[in-house]
Amino acid sequence: MAKVNESSKSSKILLIMQNKPLNILILAAGKGTRMHSNQPKVLHEIGGQPILRHVINCAKHLNPTKIIVVYGYGGEQVKQAFQDENIIWAEQKEQLGTGHAVQQALPHLDSESNTLILLGDVPLVSTAACEKLLAQADNQLIIQSFKKTDPTGYGRIVRNEHGKVNAIVEQKDATTSQQAINEVNTGIMAMPTNHLSIWLQRLTNNNAQQEYYLTDIVGFAVADKVEVNAVTIDDEWSVTGINSKQDLAQIERVYQQRQAVDLLQKGVTLFDPARIDIRGNVETAKDVEIDVGCIFEGQVSLGEGVKIGAYCVIKDATIAAGTVIAPFTHIVETTIGENSKIGPYARLRPGTTLGNETHVGNFVELKNAQVDTGSKINHLSYVGDASVGKQVNIGAGTITCNYDGANKFRTVIEDNVFVGSDSQLVAPVTIGQGGTIAAGSTITKNTPAEALTLCRAREQKSIAGWKRPVKAKKD
Ligand code: UD1
Ligand code: CA
Repeated sequence: MAKVNESSKSSKILLIMQNKPLNILILAAGKGTRMHSNQPKVLHEIGGQPILRHVINCAKHLNPTKIIVVYGYGGEQVKQAFQDENIIWAEQKEQLGTGHAVQQALPHLDSESNTLILLGDVPLVSTAACEKLLAQADNQLIIQSFKKTDPTGYGRIVRNEHGKVNAIVEQKDATTSQQAINEVNTGIMAMPTNHLSIWLQRLTNNNAQQEYYLTDIVGFAVADKVEVNAVTIDDEWSVTGINSKQDLAQIERVYQQRQAVDLLQKGVTLFDPARIDIRGNVETAKDVEIDVGCIFEGQVSLGEGVKIGAYCVIKDATIAAGTVIAPFTHIVETTIGENSKIGPYARLRPGTTLGNETHVGNFVELKNAQVDTGSKINHLSYVGDASVGKQVNIGAGTITCNYDGANKFRTVIEDNVFVGSDSQLVAPVTIGQGGTIAAGSTITKNTPAEALTLCRAREQKSIAGWKRPVKAKKD
């Protein structure tokens, strides 16, 4: 919202030459009965973000001086979800119609600005289409319309014999001939705020639904000789509101398809663009390959030539060039260096950092572990709260015992250590550089560098002629 804070002369001139300042109003008071949910409708998610977040993001791209959200049902919960945003909240206690909703925001609108009205349940709203409306909004009422094959339920755009917009008539108030009009109101519109505030005062609920219709302002504009125009948009998804779980699922697919196309256009190889889910942001370099069924969440960065196998879940992670993630691997809050091999079936938990050329194999769980260049943990291990040096080999079934039931302790494994299979390293403990831990050891004290340390309960012995117990036969 830098526009108002700009103080340099040149930017002030720019401001005058361009549009007036912009207030954006988002209508989000609807209860969303058809979602059959305790959660307010606008908090249901598309691409891992609340529906309303997508609308707010669109609004932010338009550089408004204010974003005002009209809220109603589940208000506190909705406000809570957007604490991080600079939003003015206007409550609509009773839902008496879209015009009534806009009236609730009126005290916050600046009369010298333009107002753009968006709907809080239309997540794929197009920034470019809004810019198109705003280019004309300085002294007009400008409506976004859409040509719908089946216009049932929508407000119809009624034009006069010269093709000029005369009115918007709601479904329930429309005559049979008006019902045949297939140009409908998308609900998105823009206008000079000073006109809007006057028109809002004239609204009545004298109509079929006894609601205060925002759409009645079209008639007032015509009466006031303010120019009214409708801009038709082609992309149906960008005007589609979510009213049911079916709508939510459908829009989610459209959203994901668009994310996939985005990645393809950047040169990513997707084995099947219909089988990837991005719930956040994926940054990619050249020659990245992603197999089917992967889910990316939060902020993920994939370096050049990174390959992601099938059915991986990757959240808030950075994976450097040349690294291969084999199928069914789960990675959260982890950084992985170059040319490493991870998985299949590996689990990398928060705080994990892997250096270059590291190997982490199947059924290995790492948590808050820092593993340096060239080290390998290839099978069935738990390494948590640990620092692992360079060129370390950790054998199958090794466990860092980092937790005594109340406190967590660190394990330090220095460079060139070899830990034999099925060892327990009871933290706090340091395994000295170049040392070897014999298989099956339980290590509770620091071990010296370059030595073999073994700690087994008993020496091995064999009892000749020993017989296995036999099951008693039932009669
Ligand atoms: C409205 C338009 C209609 C248009 C349609 C597009 C009016 C009178 N009609 O229909 O011309 O074709 O949108 O979808 O404006 N809302 C509130 N408070 C209310 C009522 C609604 O905040 O009291 C919000 C809803 O949360 C929603 C939006 O306004 O985001 C549209 O409401 P909805 O009931 O879906 O639209 P209609 O009034 O049926
Ligand atoms: Ca409705």
